[in-house]
Formats: sequence, structure tokens, C-alpha cells
Amino acid sequence: MGFPKGFLWGGSISAAQIEGAWDEGGKSPVSVDYCTAGSTTKRREIWYLDQNGQRAHRYWEPVDELDEGCRFKLFDDLHYTNHVASDFYHHYKEDLKLFKEMGYTTFNTSISWARILPYGMKGGVNQEGVEFYRDVFKTAVEYGMDPVITLYKYDEPVSLLEQHGGWRNRAMIDEFVAFAKICFKEYKEYVNKWMTFNEINIIMPLDGQPSKKNQRNLIYLHNQLVAAARATIAAHEIDEHLKVGCMICGNMSYPLTPDPMDALKRYEKFQDFFCYSADTQMRGYYPPFAKRIWKQYGIKPQITDQDQKDLMNGKADFIGFSYYSSGVVTTHEIDANQTTEGNILGTVKNPYLKANAWGWQIDPVGFRHFLHIINDRYNAPIFDVENGIGLIEKEEDGVCHDPERIAYHREHIKQMRKAVDEGVNLFGYTTWGCIDLVSAGTGQMDKRYGFIYVDMDDEGHGDLHRSKKDSFYWYKKVIASNGEDLD
Ligand code: BG6
Repeated sequence: MGFPKGFLWGGSISAAQIEGAWDEGGKSPVSVDYCTAGSTTKRREIWYLDQNGQRAHRYWEPVDELDEGCRFKLFDDLHYTNHVASDFYHHYKEDLKLFKEMGYTTFNTSISWARILPYGMKGGVNQEGVEFYRDVFKTAVEYGMDPVITLYKYDEPVSLLEQHGGWRNRAMIDEFVAFAKICFKEYKEYVNKWMTFNEINIIMPLDGQPSKKNQRNLIYLHNQLVAAARATIAAHEIDEHLKVGCMICGNMSYPLTPDPMDALKRYEKFQDFFCYSADTQMRGYYPPFAKRIWKQYGIKPQITDQDQKDLMNGKADFIGFSYYSSGVVTTHEIDANQTTEGNILGTVKNPYLKANAWGWQIDPVGFRHFLHIINDRYNAPIFDVENGIGLIEKEEDGVCHDPERIAYHREHIKQMRKAVDEGVNLFGYTTWGCIDLVSAGTGQMDKRYGFIYVDMDDEGHGDLHRSKKDSFYWYKKVIASNGEDLD
């Protein structure tokens, strides 16, 4: 028993969080290029000019569109961590070599739309960007990896937001499909496993109110679901061997009490946040409980006959997901000191779990439980795209000891192995992220996720040299033993 032969092991990163070179190689800006870093207690912020031309800032959101009349703008006195990030753009050969040394058989990153079509379809293809990724994927394949590549990770070119007003406009669907087709055609020689939208459900933490923002998010999400389906259809037409998965932000939570209302609330949260998107992508149509959501929020997305056909014909071939921590749900009054943070969703504290410095609760058993839930629900191949822990770590004398990271992955892999033994159809595991990079939620370099240390901090100090953490050697052993040697 244990992991099947050919199980894919590797790590996951994303364009905007690792590449840097934000204005090099023909790339146009994306919204995180206008964001500064937060901290353990503060989310990151986006800075811009408001309707009166005055400097303004607010919390960053994964689909970040400014209000009408506002303009994206950089300010000289601010430091933007994504501009340099880990500088993968200039270090990718060195980084891929390190991944190879760990024994990766796969690797996940996203393609920056803004490198391929910096100004959308009307601006034409940026060949320099196309060649950059060609070399990344070619090198990865030469190093023995079978890459699984994500098309979109909250980084549409800002120019498209300006041209079309963003995802509320169905013109974004055509723009995305054009981008996807270029990627499938250019890279099919090296990449046969794709994912359309990273954590497509990330705009779904709705707060129960029929507000404009919630209504807007349901429309955005519909347009992205249709775009993903059409891209999937296109991939299958371009090459029938291409497999295209969806990628959903995982959600595992428990009711705080045995009160049936807590149990119901927990289940509805799972339906709203996870299943609304995953069911639609895996089954090809919105689930029946979508009616409850549309009623609650006073809006139903415009679903054309063609959308319905495309959703059905463009079902995902596999389900990818991220899993970091679990949450707790209640209908009862609780004090503010009983709450904590998690990936996108804040939550009630779980007294049985420990958390990292950002309050994300560590729950390896919940991981196994969650794997079973999605295995039972979708009966399809499953790929764990992201699993990891953000930690504050320091390199001293060229060495970084990271026992907490090793412990986190050890316990999660143990539970994952049990789940596989118990019948879960999991075909791969990529840790988030295999090398230090910029956090999406707080914009910090100091929230570290890698097996490889990158010398760069939140203020821009560092020479970007790489060094292997203890976890590097540990993960190498895990991969070499196909998940058997976890000591
Ligand atoms: C995932 C995102 O949900 O969470 C990643 O796909 C992100 O991009 C990861 O980095 C961890 O979150 P954070 O906010 O700690 O970077």
C-alpha cells in the first residue's frame, strides 16, 4: 500500500508571487504591482488615485478592480514586494535545478497573462513572454518533471480591467479564452496537465447580505466559470490528450456546537464557498442549492443557453485544490478573541488545534477528512496543488533550520497516505510554495513557505541568494521513498 507508483511529487509557485521583473520582458502591470505588504496582523493594501485624484488605499482583494473613476498609480515612497519578489524571472534555471535536486516529478506555476497578452487581444502577443515560459517548461521537462500549469492566478493585466471594466463584462471571457488557447498551442509539447483559474471560489466568502459587492462577485464568478469551461473545450480541441482541471480553495470546517443550526450553517458554508464552484466545474451545471444563494443575495447571474452548453461540455477533467487549515462555524454569539484568521476565511478558534503566527489553524486530520469528502462527492482524479505553512524564519551563517515546516508536512503527508490507502484517488501533491515567495494575502516575503530560503525581506533588503533549508533535505528523502520515509 502507500502512494501508487508514478504519484507526482513537487512544489507550487505562482507568477506574480515569485517572478518579479514586474515591468521587464514586455510585461504590463497587474493589480498586485500596486500593493504594499501587511504583517502578521494586517492584510496588504492597494494604493491608487481616487475619483478626486487624491492618493488613497484600501485592503487588497483577489479580484481587484478599482471603483469607477479611480486609477492605478505607483508612489515613489512605497515599497512594492511583488516588483522583485524572489526574482524567479532571472533565477529560474538555478531554481529549477534545485527542484530537480529535490527529485521533483512535477511542478506547478501559473503563467502571467500580462507577459503573454500585456494589453489583451487588441495589443497582440508578446513573444518575449511566450519564450520565457517555453524555456521554463522545457527545462522542467528536461529535469524529469511533468508540469501542471495554472492559467490564471488573480493577475489579469490591469489594462484589461481598464478596457473592459473587469470581470463584470463578458468581454473578459473572450479575452481569457484567447490567452488560454495561445498557452495550450505554444506549450502542449511540454505541458499536458492544466488548471484554468486558481481558487476560482476565492471571491465567494459572501457575508449573507444582498450587497452590491456580493452580487458583483456572483456575476464575476459566473463569467469566470464560463471562461474556464470554454478554455477546457478549446484545450480538448487543440489536443485530445490535454487534461484540464479546476482548482478550488479547500474548505474544511466543523460546527462549534452540536446545535443543529450550527451543523446546518457549517454545511451551507461548505456549499457556498466550495461546492457552488466545484460542483459546477465537475458536473457541468450549477448545483440545486444555487437557488438558495441567488435568492439570498437577490441576484441570479445571466446564464445563456450557450453558457449552459459550454459548462456541460467544458467540465473539468480533474479537481485540484488547496488546503492549509480548517475552520469552525457557529450561529452563536462569540467574543472577538475567539476568532482567528485562515486562508481567505476568518473563523472561530478551535481549542484542539495549534496555529501559526498568522492564526491559521493546523489540522492534518482535517486534511484527510477533506480528501474523503471530495473523493466521495466527485469521484474524479484529485490533485493537491497547495499545502503548506507560512512561518517567520531566519537564515544564519547560510543555514535555515525549519523544524516546524517539516513537522507540518510530515503530519499532512501521513494523513494523505492514509487517505490514499483508504481509497482516495489522489494523483499528486505539490507543496505551497517550494521556495520563499511573496504572500498573496499579506504581501510579505517574511511569511515564508519554501524549502529553499530566498534572501529578501519585506523592506527590500537582501541579495536574493538561495540556500537550502533543513526541509529541503527532508522532502528529498520523502520523494525518493515515494512518501514512505517521513522521519
Ligand atoms: C493560496 C493561494 O490560497 O494561499 C496562494 O493560492 C497563497 O497564492 C496561499 O500564497 C497562502 O496564502 P498567503 O496569504 O499566506 O500567501
